[in-house]
Amino acid sequence: MYSSQLVSDSSQVDSARQKIDPKGDSENTQTRLPNNQSREQQQSKHSQSERLATPTLSKPRPVTPHGILAQQLSQLAHDVDGLPSASDTFRQALKAAAELAVGLDPYIEGCTTPESPELTELTRKTQAENWTQRFANGETNGELEQEMLSGHTEGQFLKVLLPSLRAKKVLEIGLFTGYSALAMAEALPADGTLVACELDSYAAQFAQSCFEKSPHGHKIRVEVGPAIDTMKQLAQAKESFDFVFIDANKDGYVDYLNVLLESSLLAPNGLICVDNTLMQGQPYMLGESTANGRAIAHFNQTVAADNRVQQVLLPIRDGVTLIRRS
Ligand SMILES: C[S@@+](CC[C@H](N)C(=O)[O-])C[C@H]1O[C@@H](n2cnc3c(N)ncnc32)[C@H](O)[C@@H]1O
Repeated sequence: MYSSQLVSDSSQVDSARQKIDPKGDSENTQTRLPNNQSREQQQSKHSQSERLATPTLSKPRPVTPHGILAQQLSQLAHDVDGLPSASDTFRQALKAAAELAVGLDPYIEGCTTPESPELTELTRKTQAENWTQRFANGETNGELEQEMLSGHTEGQFLKVLLPSLRAKKVLEIGLFTGYSALAMAEALPADGTLVACELDSYAAQFAQSCFEKSPHGHKIRVEVGPAIDTMKQLAQAKESFDFVFIDANKDGYVDYLNVLLESSLLAPNGLICVDNTLMQGQPYMLGESTANGRAIAHFNQTVAADNRVQQVLLPIRDGVTLIRRS
């Protein structure tokens, strides 16, 4: 959703690179920029005071493999105009590649059922929040950021999936401001329920205030605390879920999967959906990767080697893996 809003048609290819928020990558991940500086190096150029003074009203920066690819190709397609030695063939091929990449997200969005007004408002509120300031004030546990929100295409993917599975009970691990939770609640039947685990009490309250404005918000119960503890309590209470969405700390993914498979938590025909399993391309790219990139690479290898499950990794947004028992 977000990178596509930055660069919504080929006429914007040249200007896209100027609109990118310089702050580091979502979930403290790191991406190589075309000038070979890391996000962390770029970020250090922007002082803490600059970031505090700037409310988070800007469009999110790209945090998905094809969003980043579109940004980088846009920049190259722009830069090639300043290279007299570049042939016309090369120039045209580069611009065509940029157009191919830049058009993908907006096209997917345009072909996807629109989101509800409540989800649009939740997104707007999340973008308007000054997360850096909240963290500096000690109101949030960690530095949260608007790019953590999953968004329209992924939310609609979940909304199509749940009724097809006849899911009634959903567990979400990682709520943030509640986009995916509310999208799923919208798709649940009237007697459906969703338990959402969230470590951060500020984010949990923020999400709760959005849920109260939705006719589906009452289906959601928020549990504040480390997800692994909440999951163990739910397992002890013999709770069971038809669908589980994992979207929290990446270094916890393997433990979450094991608890789900080794307890009652995942219903016999239940489905697990895991977010960010492409982690901006880091698991397959050569070179430096972040702790999140390494955690996801390890998780993907663990799942691939686990005979208890079957899985498929889909290139939706930052990668979504669907997992079921074999
Ligand atoms: C990527 S965001 C979730 C985005 C959300 N699912 C959405 O679609 O908008 C990850 C969230 O997980 C939370 N989180 C991180 N570690 C956690 C933990 N150990 N237990 C529960 N929540 C955690 C973070 O505070 C953050 O709000």
